[in-house]
Amino acid sequence: MSYPFQIKSLEEYQQHYQKSIQDPESYWAEVASHFEWKKKWDKVLDCNFTEPKVEWFINGKLNITENCLDRHIKAGKGDQPALIWEPNDPEEHHRVLTYKELYFKVNQFAQVLLNNGVTKGDRVCIYMGMVPELPVAILACARIGAIHSVIFGGFSAQSIADRVTDAQAEYVITCDGAYRGTKEIPLKPVIDEALVQCHGVKRVIVLTRTRTPVSMIKGRDVWWEDEIKKVETLGNPKVEAAEMDAEDKLFILYTSGSTGKPKGVVHTCGGYMIWATYTFVNVFQYQPGEIHFCTADIGWITGHSYILYGPLSAGATSLMFEGIPTWPDAGRFWDIVDKYKVNILYTAPTAIRSLMAYGLQPLQGKDLSSIRLLGTVGEPINEEGWKWYYENIGKSKCPIIDTWWQTETGACLISNLAGVTAHKPCWATLPLPGVQPLLVDEKGNEITEKDSDGYYKGNLCLNGPWPGILRTTYGDHERCRQNYFATYPGLYFTGDGALKDDQGNFRITGRVDDVLNVSGHRIGTAELENAINMHNGVVESAVVAYQHDVKGQGIYAFVIYSGTLENEHLTRQDISLTVSKVIGAIAKPDKIQFVSGLPKTRSGKIMRRILRKIAEGELNQLGDTTTLLDPLIVDEIKNNRI
Ligand code: WT7
Repeated sequence: MSYPFQIKSLEEYQQHYQKSIQDPESYWAEVASHFEWKKKWDKVLDCNFTEPKVEWFINGKLNITENCLDRHIKAGKGDQPALIWEPNDPEEHHRVLTYKELYFKVNQFAQVLLNNGVTKGDRVCIYMGMVPELPVAILACARIGAIHSVIFGGFSAQSIADRVTDAQAEYVITCDGAYRGTKEIPLKPVIDEALVQCHGVKRVIVLTRTRTPVSMIKGRDVWWEDEIKKVETLGNPKVEAAEMDAEDKLFILYTSGSTGKPKGVVHTCGGYMIWATYTFVNVFQYQPGEIHFCTADIGWITGHSYILYGPLSAGATSLMFEGIPTWPDAGRFWDIVDKYKVNILYTAPTAIRSLMAYGLQPLQGKDLSSIRLLGTVGEPINEEGWKWYYENIGKSKCPIIDTWWQTETGACLISNLAGVTAHKPCWATLPLPGVQPLLVDEKGNEITEKDSDGYYKGNLCLNGPWPGILRTTYGDHERCRQNYFATYPGLYFTGDGALKDDQGNFRITGRVDDVLNVSGHRIGTAELENAINMHNGVVESAVVAYQHDVKGQGIYAFVIYSGTLENEHLTRQDISLTVSKVIGAIAKPDKIQFVSGLPKTRSGKIMRRILRKIAEGELNQLGDTTTLLDPLIVDEIKNNRI
């Protein structure tokens, strides 16, 4: 497969960019013509950011799995590896699924779904570890037109219940348990706990992975393996790929915002497919035959777009890893690179920083010469981490792509194109064709003056749609409008702050809303405070981020506790456990400080700016505190800072 839309030089990038802005409809129609459609679209784009309403490839019909599987087999690439799976335990056999084998398994499991009553448009929640059956389950949903919603394995029963309820899902696919390093993580028991609250779930399909004992509820729960056997006795019939409208929902993925519970970001079949594939081919500059290793979990958007849909639709070989970077030792990524001769390594700054802390010993004797390019995603990378990655992993000869995007954007929006446009340490650099970033001030006016440091600095917005933009938040379109399209009318607001230089390069500086980014995981402060406040001794709390060497941001919680604190240490543990139960272990606070009050304005608003400064240790830069209801509280908090 060649990629007619692969940009090969800086000049070509400029030409593509110009064309995509001047005449987006013909630009994207050309790109889309290289995909497999059951019926061509009538109109390329219909868009206004007021409702908001965004539709791409109107009345086009397709099935994304035909693009990810059937067309490669038809093109004679059926025996090429589609997925390579590296297990948690290096002693266990790895698995390779060719395009033909993956196609076979997706068909088989699509039939299982049909046999269990799943139909087009139904929502299926998937809560599994990183096993090859996870992509099989996802693609099988897409094959029959069911809407998948993958829930990351680190979320708690309560979080699952919230998502299953919000998505009105009637079907769940899970595993008995998952392996992560030395740990065996129960999954089915967490589902059981969640489903006590979700009476609408009709069927739970359970894959065996850890062989942990689980309870199977009669009439509701079935084993994956038993269901596959039933399909085998039917002679493994082929499952017709459902004809989907370009704007039919493909999946829902929940993500945190600055207010309320996580929202279900909706992506649709046509636009998402084009965007995931187009960006994969261009940003990574994928060459046929290369081994692409994205270390993300498929429970996040990065895994959806750059382990599954982008690579598979481009006919690539994608490596998925079940385990963690530090087990059996901190050389695990390098073992994997060496073992499979990985060409593209795409990981998160938090992983780079944590591996950097182990020094160079874990790199000893590992052949990394196959690596052609390195990538980062999920949070700003620090200069030290960038340099370490560039020199020690890329041996000072591989480009680093710093890819900025969000769950809502479907795939990458701002990044250098590996080896084609220049990298710049810690800068995401240039927008992809179709993407029009601009920086605005609080009032929404475009920033036209440079700061004292020579950069334009403001809140990052996007003007005009690209095919992969979210279409709605599931079940609540008004929330989508409020969250992304209302702050600055006519623009999509990202929630990030950024700098721009004279050449048009962007550097993302981090969230400017109340969203934390902890080890690349997105968590809302409101969501965290709600969880902390669930502990029966907590009266009120306020959460802010502080700079953390490995996680990027750490969670600092200021907590007002009722009654006497007999054992602060134990109470901190109790509060952490409460957060684990309500959200998941990924959201546990790093620091909990007990306070007798919080700095509030006279109208009762918590002054987080002050708490942030205290958490960062910038005790002499608290700014004006005279407008506070009780200015003395600041001294108490400062003095007891952890
Ligand atoms: C937020 C989105 C992108 C998929 C994984 C995270 C931050 C993402 C970068 C980057 C600086 C980045 C932003 C963004 N972010 N990539 N290259 N440089 N910050 O997706 O969970 O939806 O989080 O991650 O703050 O808004 P997500």
